[in-house]
Amino acid sequence: MLVLGIETTCDETACAIVQDGRAILANVITSQIDLHAEYGGVVPELACRRHVDVMIPVIDQALKTAQVSLDQVDLIAVAQGPGLIGALLIGINAAKTLALTLGKPCIGVNHVQAHLYAAIMSHPEPVEYPCLGVVLSGGHTSLFLLDSPAQSQLIAYTVDDAIGEAFDKVAKILGLPYPGGPYIEELAKQGDPNRFAFRAGRVKEAPLNFSFSGLKTAVLYAIQGRELSQQEQSDVAASFQRAAFEDVIHKTTQAADLHRCRTVIFGGGVTNNQQLRQTFATAAPQFTQIWPSFGLSLDNAAMIAGLGFHLYQSESPQEDYLTIEAFTR
Ligand code: KG4
Ligand code: ZN
Repeated sequence: MLVLGIETTCDETACAIVQDGRAILANVITSQIDLHAEYGGVVPELACRRHVDVMIPVIDQALKTAQVSLDQVDLIAVAQGPGLIGALLIGINAAKTLALTLGKPCIGVNHVQAHLYAAIMSHPEPVEYPCLGVVLSGGHTSLFLLDSPAQSQLIAYTVDDAIGEAFDKVAKILGLPYPGGPYIEELAKQGDPNRFAFRAGRVKEAPLNFSFSGLKTAVLYAIQGRELSQQEQSDVAASFQRAAFEDVIHKTTQAADLHRCRTVIFGGGVTNNQQLRQTFATAAPQFTQIWPSFGLSLDNAAMIAGLGFHLYQSESPQEDYLTIEAFTR
């Protein structure tokens, strides 16, 4: 089954062609980082306009790369949310238009669940369910209990900033470019992770939930009004990163034990971070850890097409796909 996937939840316009939920024939991503860099974050109106400009060329490019014609496509899968409303509408309307004109089925896919599917589709062996899913991205910090690729239950989330958002804000405080995650990781390599005693927040009433906004403020207060040396900058980055990852690892292992999961699956842009992967492997070797391959950690449409395939197999196909609506949260 050939699935054409479309992803426009935020600042990437992406289209992929995936066969039977696994074989990636094309995975085209155009990033808008250049457009938003000078604002230090995504400007929704600009994002929407760029999606309109590049949506059709990106679909064309994916078909060309996969050497597939539109009439060979069996299913259209589209990221339905969460994301920016205007951005989502462009992808969803492109998908509906394709489905309608081609007479093909169309299915909406949850972007956050698709991030976890990115790891599943990167993994050569079968996954043992139930397992714990950890999404660490610019918009989400969530733990899920997964019964299958298409069935999951949210068990914890962030009550304020997402972890990627905290990386981006701390990077901004340190004067680093947007998006800041990779710059913090690089800077932290030369830093002392214990120089500053930063800690992520605790959520008393729901101890597995996350809170990163206090951590970001602690960084701000630690350096406010001071001219930092290069070494001090690195120490701040390393100490912040240590605190954020300590918290994620602690809560993930607690949740996995609580729900008797032996496998942990990771997804989202922050999982690109090598330090996180190494620290987790050392701290919790008792779990089988499944990480997305590097091309699939950040937003992409291969994960949308892949999960779309499984949803289509497990659910009765949506008769009236024209009613698919974007959801922002
Ligand atoms: O999953 P993603 O592409 O988009 C969302 O769905 O949000 O994640 C983007 C986020 C950004 O906040 C970015 O700074 C962060 O992932 N990120 C990283 C790294 N690479 C990307 N954070 C920490 N370390 C990295 N190496
Ligand atoms: Zn994402």
